[in-house]
Amino acid sequence: MAAGAPMKGGIGTYSYANNSQRQREEYDSAKNLIKHVLIQNLDVKSLVSSGNAFTIADLGCSIGPNTFLAMENIIDGVGEKYDIQGHNPTNLEFQVFFNDRVANDFNSLFASLPVDKRYYAAGVAGSFWGRLFPDSSICVAYSSFALQWLSKIPKELVDKESPAWNKGKIHYTGRGAKKEVVGAYAAQFEQDMDAFLNARGMEIVRGGMIVILIPGVADGVVAHSSGVALTFLESNLCDMVKESNKCRKSLRKMGVSAC
Ligand SMILES: C[S@@+](CC[C@H](N)C(=O)[O-])C[C@H]1O[C@@H](n2cnc3c(N)ncnc32)[C@H](O)[C@@H]1O
Repeated sequence: MAAGAPMKGGIGTYSYANNSQRQREEYDSAKNLIKHVLIQNLDVKSLVSSGNAFTIADLGCSIGPNTFLAMENIIDGVGEKYDIQGHNPTNLEFQVFFNDRVANDFNSLFASLPVDKRYYAAGVAGSFWGRLFPDSSICVAYSSFALQWLSKIPKELVDKESPAWNKGKIHYTGRGAKKEVVGAYAAQFEQDMDAFLNARGMEIVRGGMIVILIPGVADGVVAHSSGVALTFLESNLCDMVKESNKCRKSLRKMGVSAC
């Protein structure tokens, strides 16, 4: 998928806040593993040398509520690890940086922060494909269900002359897709992940960690529920484009200019 658009804001019926149960379920099934990897891998010896402030960044946090659950879980995991290593976790002061694109509804995010949160909260607007924080300033960077978005549509996919032309489709499901299409998506993903990891490599402190949850399918799997959902979405989008073109034509005939 290309160019991740911010989720629907607010707290209404169609908002992300009320339509992120699927991501919540996936997160629930991974939360113990996340805590476990933190306990296994955080290098407390290095971290304590930089003081009591413990910084966490959620990259592609959206509006909530999933981000709040994830931050609480990370704080629990960090606390347990400090305890195990003989450092009093109550001395820690957590700061969470909620990051998303500029157009994300940060107002709803901040309005719904849990009243009993155990951290200082700050918003960081901008794209995670580039630098977001100073050198060596983040202890744990976390990202869930956000890195599947590509930074842009690979241009070969929309070029009718290219062997990788994707015939107007908005994704690749595997069934009947050409290897050139797969190659174009894979090359873009590699380039994006390279940029993402390079930026985080500069930002994460010595002893810190990055935790990524990303949806995926095993190699060779051609039929999966996300593919079906995207094909359905693709057909809706195509219908909307056709309708809007028809509308423009009629307006032009009537001498009205449309944007
Ligand atoms: C499906 S939501 C996931 C939200 C939350 N992490 C969760 O697990 O429920 C994906 C989020 O990633 C954000 N996103 C996509 N591309 C981004 C980028 N380049 N930089 C920052 N955020 C991005 C979108 O705006 C969106 O809010």
